[in-house]
Amino acid sequence: MKVEKIRKEFPLLKNKIVYLDNAATTQKPESVIAAFRKYYESSNGNAHRGLYSVSQEATKILDESRETVADFINAEKDEIVFTKSATEGFNLLAYALESEVGRWNHVVTTELEHHSNYVPWQQLAKKTQAELKVVKYNSEKSELDDFSKYVTKKAALVAFTLMSNVTGFIPDAKSIIKKIREENDKAIIVVDASQAIAHIDIDVKELDADFVVFSSHKVYGPTGVGVVYGKKLLLDKMKPFLFGGNMIQEVKEFESTWAEVPDKFEAGTLDVAGIFAFAEALRFLNAQDSEELRAYETELKEYTLSKLKEVDHLTVLGHNSKNYGPIISVLITDLHPHDLAEICARENVCVRAGHHCAQPLMKSLEIVATTRISLSFYNEKKEIDKFIECIKKARKIING
Ligand code: ALA
Repeated sequence: MKVEKIRKEFPLLKNKIVYLDNAATTQKPESVIAAFRKYYESSNGNAHRGLYSVSQEATKILDESRETVADFINAEKDEIVFTKSATEGFNLLAYALESEVGRWNHVVTTELEHHSNYVPWQQLAKKTQAELKVVKYNSEKSELDDFSKYVTKKAALVAFTLMSNVTGFIPDAKSIIKKIREENDKAIIVVDASQAIAHIDIDVKELDADFVVFSSHKVYGPTGVGVVYGKKLLLDKMKPFLFGGNMIQEVKEFESTWAEVPDKFEAGTLDVAGIFAFAEALRFLNAQDSEELRAYETELKEYTLSKLKEVDHLTVLGHNSKNYGPIISVLITDLHPHDLAEICARENVCVRAGHHCAQPLMKSLEIVATTRISLSFYNEKKEIDKFIECIKKARKIING
């Protein structure tokens, strides 16, 4: 793949930084940045609110962007709800699905989750007095435990990630969902696609989860836009999360009725400029050869793993099978992750150190932090080499 060519599309990469923190956020192509200017220069009005041209233009842009997002995951347009982040999406679901969870029920999540797909369920279980069941992460096999031990007829909701933001592990979601459905066809299934969306094809019809949540900024779009895909029948049934403008049908003195989905969940003025720029990011991706991008990311991941193998006293979390995305966490016996990340930063190498908002996983692994490298198709092998050099430098500085 012509990595130099694709890098040219990303203005920030022209600065001399080695950006290896793509799981935190991705860089944006020129067309996404330009979309903001284009929108504000020629189409800025409040969508759904005016009869004049720019308001109608904004409404059209919102509508077309929703369609682009829906097409990207093979959903229908009215199954796409825009939020401000994936985190807000999970909170929306935890609130709006409250009536589906009773005191006798189980809410199931896993130790592998980012806090955004953990804390809302933990709090929902507390509020409804349901029991929280947490699928264990088996560190020897580097796999999630069998869901069937946790999902019984009592499960009201099961939430799990399509790709760990710490280890890159990709659970076999289709077969997990199939098994959950066989055991309990009433359980609501929520999946976190925040990391997966940039690296694997997601077809919501094939996947058969009830809800899929992700954000724009992890897939080359801007910050400030999240997506909740939901099966229409469920979205129709759910109570709204935020109240105010746009989400009502009629407001009387003491009662209100709600607009149709998705408006029911989109109170207030949406970030139409951001949503337009997000659709632009998806158009950018659609214009690439996705098989080539994926193959290159796998090649980069394999290269990184082979280079890391050469480093003494270094352990990679997981990556013992092909079921991993290009997110790699390492532990180095004689280097604290924060020291290493700090020395990397001095060299303009961007990696993340810490618990990665996944404390249940850290606790299960009996560690407090890792150093994480997360790759994109615009990374180069020489950038991995630079990271390896940083480990050597850090060792010299810390250990003398
Ligand atoms: N969720 C993002 C990460 O894993 C911020 O870094």
